[in-house]
Amino acid sequence: MVDPGVNDTIRFDEIDLDYVSKFRLLHLTSFICKLGEESFKSQKKLVKVFDGIVSFDPGAVYAERGLDDLKDIIRETTIFMPNAIEMEILTGLSYKEGANEILNMGVEVVVVKLGERGCYITDGKIELEIPALKVDVVDTTGAGDAFNAGFLYGYLKGKDLEECGKLGNYLASLCIQKVGAREGLPRGLKY
Ligand SMILES: Nc1ncnc2c1ncn2[C@@H]1O[C@H](COP(=O)(O)OP(=O)(O)OP(=O)(O)O)[C@@H](O)[C@H]1O
Ligand SMILES: [Mg+2]
Repeated sequence: MVDPGVNDTIRFDEIDLDYVSKFRLLHLTSFICKLGEESFKSQKKLVKVFDGIVSFDPGAVYAERGLDDLKDIIRETTIFMPNAIEMEILTGLSYKEGANEILNMGVEVVVVKLGERGCYITDGKIELEIPALKVDVVDTTGAGDAFNAGFLYGYLKGKDLEECGKLGNYLASLCIQKVGAREGLPRGLKY
């Protein structure tokens, strides 16, 4: 995770590439700060030199930039993880057609978050629709990030895509039963 927070910016020459080269997975998401343009450029450079798995959740901010702006990152992405609205804004297509377009750009797995409907996953060979858990929703802040964490945990553990999707839904379900993005998340989860 390379995230400087809301007010800072990340210049490419500030990134410790030796350290990053030890990561198995690099997760990218959008920068919302005023200085975000510099950080966006750094992300583009970083994915070019990074050798491992790249996961990318564009969020609404990057989705609105459009495919042309994001193509340099998407082409280096292994797992693309928008929500359905972001996929539709980004590609101008339904989220399933959009997923195909993204696969055609060289991405291996597309995971679309569908809120209370769970998630849709495709790698071009299989398509999965995995329903969300039925829980008492208190606050959905952080649901997307919790989902990403659960999914990527499974992926790094070598689980199949269905199991990864279930883990994403599960972690998101824990998140949304408490106020705030972190309160419901487990510590030291044994799986
Ligand atoms: N009402 C709900 N009931 C059960 N699970 C939910 C609900 N809302 C969200 N989730 C879970 O959270 C995941 C992510 O939520 P969502 O689809 O809203 O992503 P997002 O829009 O990217 O979220 P965020 O706004 O946090 O970025 C869903 O895939 C699902 O597993
Ligand atoms: Mg999101």
